[in-house]
Amino acid sequence: MAILKLQNGTILTDIQHIAQELASLNIQLNRWSVGENPDLRRLLAQDSLDEDEKSQVLKALDSYFEQLQQTAGYQSRDLIVLNPGIPNLDGLLAKFDQIHTHADDEVRYVIDGEAIFGFVRRDRTQVELTVQPEEYINVPAGTEHWFYLTPARRVKAVRYFISTEGWVPQYTGRKKLLGVRS
Ligand SMILES: [Fe+2]
Repeated sequence: MAILKLQNGTILTDIQHIAQELASLNIQLNRWSVGENPDLRRLLAQDSLDEDEKSQVLKALDSYFEQLQQTAGYQSRDLIVLNPGIPNLDGLLAKFDQIHTHADDEVRYVIDGEAIFGFVRRDRTQVELTVQPEEYINVPAGTEHWFYLTPARRVKAVRYFISTEGWVPQYTGRKKLLGVRS
């Protein structure tokens, strides 16, 4: 389950407490099961996936995409697979680990590994949310946030898009107070 770190170092693991802390940001955090499909489970256990295997994973989870298409006008989805074997992983991560916003919501479904989303709250305090497997997150457009990986540097996540232009990062120039690597 998700873990929330507050700026004062407090760690919260209770989903109700996490929801309270994130309430002012209107972030949605839901548990979405990947189900029991053994082929999907086998693919999720692999370190890397070729294009055909990525398509199989997306197809197995398309009931969620269809729901987002019907209720919120989502147009496309893809699968990101990040692990230490990816060439230029640091370069890829550097694009998103500074505080930024997007014109559209940032919508991710973590299906393996984990990722950290940092947020600037209305009162300017910062928090970091570790999103774990079978968790769906919707970060509203305009929310100041950042993204990076836990020390395992491993995640598989479905990204859902209304438009691919909408998730280009716009950097706000604000300094991170959490998750600053020495
Ligand atoms: Fe982002």
